[in-house]
Amino acid sequence: MSAFTALAADLDLSKLPPPATVTVDFARDIQPILAKNCYSCHGAQRQKGELRWDVKALAMHGSEHGAVILPGHSADSLMIQLVAQVTPGRVMPAKGDPLTTEQIGLLRAWIDQARSGRTVWIRSVTWIAGTTGLSNQSPTPPRQR
Ligand code: HEC
Repeated sequence: MSAFTALAADLDLSKLPPPATVTVDFARDIQPILAKNCYSCHGAQRQKGELRWDVKALAMHGSEHGAVILPGHSADSLMIQLVAQVTPGRVMPAKGDPLTTEQIGLLRAWIDQARSGRTVWIRSVTWIAGTTGLSNQSPTPPRQR
């Protein structure tokens, strides 16, 4: 049994908000949540826990501990467990308001709908905080000021 499985077994996943029932659109439903609540610590400027949410490939790579999104399995995804606060003593975002039940439901639906090959990510684009424009470049270097 991996450390991850052992940890997950101790969690009460029945406390997770249910997934939203809408068909999730990444740009409309998900990116704004990540941009507002997560990019400040996991974006172009800073990568706390070695995790970056603004570039798909890097988000899928996960944190210093490995994958935090398991496509098709939102309840088992560390990302969801942390924002829903079922992990004792740990919560994301680490500062600021916790995510609402509705926001967590959307994140769950986003991960669950990645099942069966359906692409809920916007192809191989780079997500850039604060813009709706999505470019094709691979990871953007931190902005110079
Ligand atoms: C104020 C800074 C801050 C914000 C905002 C923030 N995080 Fe984090 N995050 C951290 C730090 C620091 C770590 C590494 C230490 C840790 O794991 O607690 C981390 C680690 C993580 C990890 C990896 C945990 C692990 O054990 O590998 C996940 C998943 C995560 N954050 C998700 C999120 C999500 C999703 C959001 C937005 C809803 C978010 N974080 C917002 C600071 C932040």
